[in-house]
Amino acid sequence: MKFSFSTSGESHGPGEVTLVHGVPAGLDLLAEDVNRDLARRQQGYGRGGRQKIETDKIEFLGGVRHGYTLGAPIAMLVRNKDYAKWEHKMNPAPVDDPPEDITLPRPGHADLAGMQKYATGDLRNILERSSARETVARVAAGGVARKLLSEFGIRVNSAVYRIGNVAMDKIEAARGVRISDESEVRCPDPETTERMKSEIDDARYARDALGGSFVVVAEGCPPGLGSYVDWRDKLDARLAAAVMSVNAIKGVEVGIGFDVARHRSSEVQDEILLGEDGALTRASNRLGGLEGGMTNGEPVVISAAMKPISTIAKQLRTVDLAKGEAAMGFKERADSCAVPAAAVIAEAMVAVVLAEAFLDKFGQDNLVDIRAAYDAYIERISKIASGSAV
Ligand SMILES: Cc1cc2nc3c(=O)[nH]c(=O)nc-3n(C[C@H](O)[C@H](O)[C@H](O)COP(=O)(O)O)c2cc1C
Repeated sequence: MKFSFSTSGESHGPGEVTLVHGVPAGLDLLAEDVNRDLARRQQGYGRGGRQKIETDKIEFLGGVRHGYTLGAPIAMLVRNKDYAKWEHKMNPAPVDDPPEDITLPRPGHADLAGMQKYATGDLRNILERSSARETVARVAAGGVARKLLSEFGIRVNSAVYRIGNVAMDKIEAARGVRISDESEVRCPDPETTERMKSEIDDARYARDALGGSFVVVAEGCPPGLGSYVDWRDKLDARLAAAVMSVNAIKGVEVGIGFDVARHRSSEVQDEILLGEDGALTRASNRLGGLEGGMTNGEPVVISAAMKPISTIAKQLRTVDLAKGEAAMGFKERADSCAVPAAAVIAEAMVAVVLAEAFLDKFGQDNLVDIRAAYDAYIERISKIASGSAV
């Protein structure tokens, strides 16, 4: 089976479950490899009270033995500590005195269309699954993908370059992805970090919330992941869809992104040069390491815009579906800015897509064969500039 994952779990239910398929046998994998990213997801200036309650950690339920993978599906569980307080409201078993329905759909959420689509009068049935709590399970899958990629020198990092009206240059931010963990907002520039924090404080004071933009950079990808042959295989499209699937992401760009429309061709394409060592190199990386739906050996650069959190203290207008009358939105505990966390989640989605494409290219079953295929490929393409591509 191809590398892929699915998740199960409600925000205040017993836990979040991830099932990862297609992980080759023989990959060293410890719970710490995954927990590190879960902790990074929980950080960020502007998060709400939920992050103080949870300390997300996985338990492996299958697919891993004595610290290495077996080639079987990997199941991981993150228990929701908050469930202790929600046992009555979220119990999988029927309860004698069910809680009252919530009937005030929040603008900007899955609430209204979800209630229509899934035929329920209680929007808790919708919000529990559509909540970004589900992304814990995605980050767990991303942790497995990253571990696999790291075996071949591929690293995925991110940086936040805009929160509300405070921004730094995207390219500069992309250069700083390795140090962004040091910033409370994942911004590599200390001065911009402070201004972003004040921007978040101002929004919170105004009982409002803020969105922003971030960039994800994957370094070390070999050329040729993805393909131009079939539209479904195009890696830029797969990466964009995966990042766009993260809650509240409203736009995704590759490389310089929408700026390609403003420039002449000579200012957009990345010229191919012959380095002194005879290796091929590029004069620039404006196209974000992707040409023709494939990696080209340059860092893969994907950026995205996140909309502001919809659940805000300054309530927005809605309609009470039980009474059929105008009302103000219902309040649920919320973040005032989750852009830094969204960047970590997007890293996970990028890692998953890259792992899938990597295994498509080099094999599925075990690390020994995959490594041999990878080494042979790198050896072969290293000779391409001397006329022996095949
Ligand atoms: C890390 C993260 C945390 C989020 N926290 C909240 C939150 O506390 N309150 C809220 O209303 N929305 C939050 N969101 C956004 C909603 O999950 C999202 O807007 C909603 O599910 C509707 O999906 P859509 O915006 O993609 O259309 C968060 C998103 C992310 C990525």
